[in-house]
Amino acid sequence: MGVMDKGGDTAHPLFAQRMDRLGVPATIAMAQRARTLRAQGEKVLSLALGEPDFATPAAVIEAAHRAALDGQTKYPPVDGTPALKAAIARKFARENALEYAPAEIMVSNGGKQVIFNAFMATVQPGDEVVIPRPYWVSYPLIVQIFGGTPVYADCHEADGFRLTAAALEAAITPRTKWLVLNFPNNPTGGTMGRADLEAIAEVLRRHPHVHVLSDEIYEHLIYDGQRHVSLAAVAPDLKGRILTLNGVSKAYAMTGWRVGYVGGPVPLIRAMTAIQGSATSGICSISQAAAAAALDGPPDIIAQMCAVYDRRRKLVVSTLRNIPGLTCAMPHGAFYAYPGIAACMGRTTAGGQLLKTDEDFAIALLNEQHVALVHGSAFGQGPYLRLSYATSDDILREACARIARLVDGLTG
Ligand SMILES: Cc1ncc(COP(=O)(O)O)c(C=O)c1O
Repeated sequence: MGVMDKGGDTAHPLFAQRMDRLGVPATIAMAQRARTLRAQGEKVLSLALGEPDFATPAAVIEAAHRAALDGQTKYPPVDGTPALKAAIARKFARENALEYAPAEIMVSNGGKQVIFNAFMATVQPGDEVVIPRPYWVSYPLIVQIFGGTPVYADCHEADGFRLTAAALEAAITPRTKWLVLNFPNNPTGGTMGRADLEAIAEVLRRHPHVHVLSDEIYEHLIYDGQRHVSLAAVAPDLKGRILTLNGVSKAYAMTGWRVGYVGGPVPLIRAMTAIQGSATSGICSISQAAAAAALDGPPDIIAQMCAVYDRRRKLVVSTLRNIPGLTCAMPHGAFYAYPGIAACMGRTTAGGQLLKTDEDFAIALLNEQHVALVHGSAFGQGPYLRLSYATSDDILREACARIARLVDGLTG
């Protein structure tokens, strides 16, 4: 019997055992449910996706066009074009006070492939990776693909969802290979300041076997007068153990161009480049030209987008806080709010759905009010909801009104 006869079931002997460890992220499952409802003709409002609603800046698109016309259409170097790597080095120096030589920089197919390359190069069965919780779903999934074990360090709303030194210390064992840091954070919007990072660096100095993947992809989306600081700049003595990950997806509204990059120690960059060479032969040459134009472009483009996100952040948080039964900490970064819904648990919606979990809430919200978002337990901590405010003010207002209607109709 052919594999298609089984409907793609990965229990079929064709498939490698690692496929058992490759779950479907809840973010994708929720988007699929929303698509099904839309196909039935319903007007679904989606706050589920972590994707800027802005267009890629016109100057960036023009740079891509020029690159294509200029003949930049051949296989690029596996680790990135010299022009983009030079732009990345300038960016790290200018914005992060970090000096990375070209040999310490690598370009990947989005920030996600940096993570994939890094863990493929280093993680094997028996290895542990400390992941602050709540977390972006891809970290544990990728760790598990390579047979590693995610170990979670809990971050709490009362601490602004920061990772504390105590939580990190408790999670580290002799088997720990990596700590993943992601601030500003997806899903909570939490940020870590210089003092917070200094405390983390102190713990890391006591554990020289632990490396750090510092995912700073939301660095520019930061509010309330805060400034992002890179771990490798706060603790230069640890720079040889840190991968500083970034990308153009979120800062420049370039999710579809698929360009991420990383700065780090040469042996790791070499190993990751070897993997990438086998997997993809490098990153789209046109996208690399576009990314270089974005990084070298005027910084006010980011400031303008950030001002809009800031306005939407305040709109969403103040509206959610006015809904009885919801709590909402003010997120200081990224473009997500993470409201708590503990007071709604155990109650029943007007449509008859008993809310035992935050996933029940998210499904009822989609079915009864046609608003798609993702439940917090999908990111490791419930009962919360994650909603992205990277969408228009009108959609945000209407979606919040529908959330209020669902909560207003609860009984029991
Ligand atoms: C925390 C975090 N890191 C990395 C990425 C990867 O982004 P990309 O692969 O588009 O660069 C995302 C995307 O959602 C993210 O939320």
